[in-house]
Amino acid sequence: MAFHFPRLDLAKAIADQLSPDPLFGASAGLFLAAPRRTGKSSFLRLDLVPELERRGRLPIYVDLWTDKARDPGELIAEALAQTIDRLATRAERLWRNLPFSRITVGGIAADLPKTTPRGSATLAQALVEIGDRAQSDVVFIIDEAQQALASKAGVDAMFALKAARDQMNQRQGAPHLFLLFTGSHRDKLAALVLTHKQPFYGARVQDFPRLGRGYIDTLVAQMNPRLAPENQLDPSDVMRAFELLGHRPEKLLDVVRDHALGEAGSAGLRQTVTERADLLRARIWQQHQSDYGLLGDLQRVVLRRLIADGPAFAPFSAPTLAQIATDLGTPITTSEVQKALDDLRDKSIVWRPERGVYALEDQDMRDWLLSDGTAGQ
Ligand SMILES: Nc1ncnc2c1ncn2[C@@H]1O[C@H](COP(=O)(O)OP(=O)(O)O)[C@@H](O)[C@H]1O
Ligand SMILES: [Mg+2]
Repeated sequence: MAFHFPRLDLAKAIADQLSPDPLFGASAGLFLAAPRRTGKSSFLRLDLVPELERRGRLPIYVDLWTDKARDPGELIAEALAQTIDRLATRAERLWRNLPFSRITVGGIAADLPKTTPRGSATLAQALVEIGDRAQSDVVFIIDEAQQALASKAGVDAMFALKAARDQMNQRQGAPHLFLLFTGSHRDKLAALVLTHKQPFYGARVQDFPRLGRGYIDTLVAQMNPRLAPENQLDPSDVMRAFELLGHRPEKLLDVVRDHALGEAGSAGLRQTVTERADLLRARIWQQHQSDYGLLGDLQRVVLRRLIADGPAFAPFSAPTLAQIATDLGTPITTSEVQKALDDLRDKSIVWRPERGVYALEDQDMRDWLLSDGTAGQ
């Protein structure tokens, strides 16, 4: 198996929050965001799920990015169908005899494997059934949950989950339901919790912690014995490179391999992180740079304003229009700003989760702009 640095303390801390504890528990649901390829799914599958199992909970995990061609509502229903199948007794299996044979959400159905056709259940009914069968609290983990916003069935599934949570958590002495949502896109995830029209209104999106020095030290300890004595990696250099690469293990491994095997050896890595940090950043930020380079002045100003204001960005309010005019140095009309936003959407830089709300399509771009990646442009 590939190298995995275990994150037990983090798994414990998160499992603690998925509890009915009135002080520490996140009863509305826990929302964790971090950029893509930084280790969310690995943590959920390899650290959190086992920790929840050790505590006698029943974790159910679904990644809405496993197959972007499939409807998120269907993926959610299917995860529940598979769990019910796993919890079926031998007799039920033998007679293909479960209380229902399909689960429907928002008009989309997932069939339980190998059952005789029977009635269908809603998402809430399926979850209650799972809790009762397992006789333990259920933790439903939805990875890349913002993807649910991409379809009607996905959005319906989110509302159904909220209803199931309320229903299960109101019962006395019966299994509870805890919901954990993770996402690569903070603003999109926030769209699930920000407005009263959204299912988890009032919950808070937290940062999912990035891998840090512990991961680097373990990685270096594994690599150094395989490198020549004069070519040993220095953990501080590797850590610096990791930070510059946005805490992405795959990118780091590429860079470390290139350097360790290259002519300059590990000394070259030090030189790169100290003198040529821009080269490392460029590996990630090239795309943003070229996207941004193609924007007009007004589009850039509007984009920067959106990033500065975050989820509160209200493009057509008088103060925002005034601010944009100041930044741009000329007066500006609502329709010009509208046009700039439409252009940014056409270029897939900005998206609109609902009327009047705008967010960045790729969260990385924010880091890049804030680090002043545009200096000199
Ligand atoms: N704890 C870890 N130890 C070692 N490698 C990791 C760890 N977490 C993630 N990785 C590696 O980082 C890459 C991205 O991880 P992944 O979990 O898919 O990220 P995400 O779900 O945030 O997109 C994978 O190649 C994975 O093997
Ligand atoms: Mg993932």
